[in-house]
Amino acid sequence: MEFYENEVRPERAFLVSVDTGEFDAEASMSELYELTESAGAQPVGAMIQKREKPDGATCIGSGRLEELKEVCQSQEIDLIIFDCELSPTQIRNLEFETEIRIIDRTMLILDIFASRARSREGKLQVELAQLKYLLPRLTGKGAAMSRLGGGIGTRGPGESKLETDRRHIRRRLESLREQLAQVEQHRNQLRRRREKEGIITAAIVGYTNAGKSTLLNLLTGADVLAEDKLFATLDPTSRAIELPDGRSLLLVDTVGLIRRLPHHLVEAFKSTLEEAACADIIIHVCDVSDPEAAEKADVTLKTLADLGAAEIPVVTVLNKCDLLTENIPEDDSTVKISAKKAQGIDRLLQVVAANLPETAKRMKLLLPYDKAGFTAKLRENGKVFTEEYTETGVLVDALVDQMLIKQMSQY
Ligand code: GTP
Repeated sequence: MEFYENEVRPERAFLVSVDTGEFDAEASMSELYELTESAGAQPVGAMIQKREKPDGATCIGSGRLEELKEVCQSQEIDLIIFDCELSPTQIRNLEFETEIRIIDRTMLILDIFASRARSREGKLQVELAQLKYLLPRLTGKGAAMSRLGGGIGTRGPGESKLETDRRHIRRRLESLREQLAQVEQHRNQLRRRREKEGIITAAIVGYTNAGKSTLLNLLTGADVLAEDKLFATLDPTSRAIELPDGRSLLLVDTVGLIRRLPHHLVEAFKSTLEEAACADIIIHVCDVSDPEAAEKADVTLKTLADLGAAEIPVVTVLNKCDLLTENIPEDDSTVKISAKKAQGIDRLLQVVAANLPETAKRMKLLLPYDKAGFTAKLRENGKVFTEEYTETGVLVDALVDQMLIKQMSQY
């Protein structure tokens, strides 16, 4: 392939994994492949070595290292990505041996996070996570080589920051933590206000690329970035919609989950997932066209349980049904849809409404004229759809708030 002068050739990446039998190395590798493309590089080859445990000095064994060096030279590789976490020493040794930039799975994911984060909080969190991860890796020749010249693993915090001494980085970390605390406080205030005003929220969760943003866009007409790249969503974005029963529902988009998300990344992004733990209902989006859909759904539910969201009602959305030929059953809390083709959305909204904890109820009331003052109350705490003056009283069709339901039921 030829590239014109102004065109940037995508970085050519070679992927390496050590299969210790602890996890499905093949599946993880295919995800690493997608992650690499997501970061804008071109995966040109891969190698999996079976070993009891990674080599302390170079992760892979010396024979495989020689092989790797040869492949990288003959295939003009710019970058080697390891499907595990590397220690500072391993990175240094590998860069010394191969003379090629080395990054690991965590750095790759952080890089994607860095190029996608949109909100102030998202950006702060990414920088914090990157600096924390890079700090111990900022020594020696390897670090200097790996942080120069741009490319994957170098985005996010500016290079000058990374080249200055550790003390400077520690100061930056401290300032980031302070700023984050402020942003978090602000978000908690917003959440409390939402609670006080009785606004019900639904968190859209699911594995990355399941179609969360597409669904949110469809439901709200919002222009939330939807891309066929992993992690198109990094920041919670909220929009309100109206349910068939008249209640408004605030939809919150959350970060897509991935298999083997490094633990400190879960920590770094907990605040966006915390939205899910505070929601009234969880809309769990699955990509049914994915052969690993069931396994991924388990990961999602387990992560939610870890966050303390196990008690919240879940509506399972089987998305991308347009790609299926066989029939799969639905039930009271499972809905088949195609977000792309806008199919199944009416039923989805009905099922969401039916699974919501009862916060309000749509009722038809006949209020005698001496109780007509109640309509003001209804309007204040709920919603009045129609009001008709009849001989016997005011006929009201209204969404009645939980605390008023008892009072109103006699009418
Ligand atoms: P992250 O932001 O990475 O967490 O992804 P997401 O879950 O928000 O997925 P997104 O909405 O970005 O969709 C991912 C890809 O799937 C896009 O290319 C969509 O066009 C495609 N997609 C979404 N819904 C459907 C569907 O119902 N059918 C088909 N065929 N494709 C869909």
